[in-house]
Amino acid sequence: MSKYKIINKSIHNLFTSTTFQPRCVFTFVLIMNSKYKRNQQFNNRQLFFSYLAQTSDAPIALEMKKAEGIYITDINDKKYIDGISGFSVNNIGHSHPDVVKAVQEQAASYMHLIVYGEFIQSPQVAYAKLITDQLPDSLNCVYFTNSGTEATEGAMKLAKRATNRNKIISFKNAYHGSTQGSLSIMGDEYWRNAFRPLLPGIYHEEYNNYKAVAQIDEETACIIMEVVQAEAGIIPANKEWLQAIRNKCTETGTLLVFDEIQSGFGRTGSLWAFEQYNIIPDVLLLGKALGGGMPLGAFIASHTLMNKLTDNPVLGHITTFGGHPVSCAAGKAGLEVLLKNNYLSKVKDHEKILVERIQHPSIKAKRHCGLWMAIEFDSFETNQQVAKRCIENGLITDWFLFAPHCLRIAPPLTITTEELVILCQIVIESIEAKD
Ligand SMILES: Cc1ncc(COP(=O)(O)O)c(C=O)c1O
Repeated sequence: MSKYKIINKSIHNLFTSTTFQPRCVFTFVLIMNSKYKRNQQFNNRQLFFSYLAQTSDAPIALEMKKAEGIYITDINDKKYIDGISGFSVNNIGHSHPDVVKAVQEQAASYMHLIVYGEFIQSPQVAYAKLITDQLPDSLNCVYFTNSGTEATEGAMKLAKRATNRNKIISFKNAYHGSTQGSLSIMGDEYWRNAFRPLLPGIYHEEYNNYKAVAQIDEETACIIMEVVQAEAGIIPANKEWLQAIRNKCTETGTLLVFDEIQSGFGRTGSLWAFEQYNIIPDVLLLGKALGGGMPLGAFIASHTLMNKLTDNPVLGHITTFGGHPVSCAAGKAGLEVLLKNNYLSKVKDHEKILVERIQHPSIKAKRHCGLWMAIEFDSFETNQQVAKRCIENGLITDWFLFAPHCLRIAPPLTITTEELVILCQIVIESIEAKD
């Protein structure tokens, strides 16, 4: 059986106390689709399974009612530590009062006005200025999108338009989003195969392998990569290798695109992971924490590069809601909170606490970078048991897309040392309980 069949099979049994079993779901959907449903009163769980498109047959399906700081509370008043920050979105915790205020004020002034790029909207302008102030001089022009995957799409289009080439290099076990262009560069055939035909001219290389450097040539539009591979289970790039990639890109006129959608906004201990490498990309992709809890993505490059999207054809990338003023206001407030409180200064010390306290003979390996850890077990089944116990014990965790045997730890950067110690205790107790 392939690892994904095992996952699908095992996932049926995951969180059984909180979810429907698949057969029950099917029966229930039939009932809900019947003529009786209009006269019935259903609870949110039933409505969730009946009316919302499902992405797996065993979602976590906890019903939450409030989230504040590092905690999420369910409808039974059970409080959970958010150990994954909504997949690295809530780096400053949930519903920070400054972000809530910014959202309320902006919504009261104006929400959507017009398609991206036409009116001068102060939240977009102010946020673009604040972000580029935190970046090297060459990354001085921001294109705001709705999401991370749209930022990836924009960068791929920009690279093709700027270089007049169409070869793109990406990496095995890389995730850059789920739309068709991003899916084409996704680094795993299992996830791509059902959606072919995808983009031609894509080369998937081994991460940290010099064959990738050799593959970059005068026909390559861009190489898209994460500085720390997230969904592979926290794999940082080797410094010399990344420098060799930068050099070859410069030599061949290939654009180097860094995807910091998950690693950005302090997750690795510096605002951007690439700062730890002294290497500057030509294009930077941001998302997730960029919106302070609201949907927002961005691709960022130099003015010279970005101007390629203004002619031949004009409107080289069009988005209706990209850079929504409320999202930009929220994102700016969120970044100000992160910088003002200097949360970054605590990340490396907190990383040490994670490393010291998360120890157990069942753990095969730990990979970490800042407040971001993959705890590796012998199998997906073991990991699944530990994750289930963690949730029972009040800690939200999950696995990684390409490393299902690894437990994901990525709490908000605002977590206190005392709270982090509790998080570690819950992980260890959950490992011990499964033995
Ligand atoms: C590294 C990376 N790139 C891109 C994306 C896609 O972002 P979005 O889900 O906002 O489209 C993700 C999302 O998980 C990601 O982790």
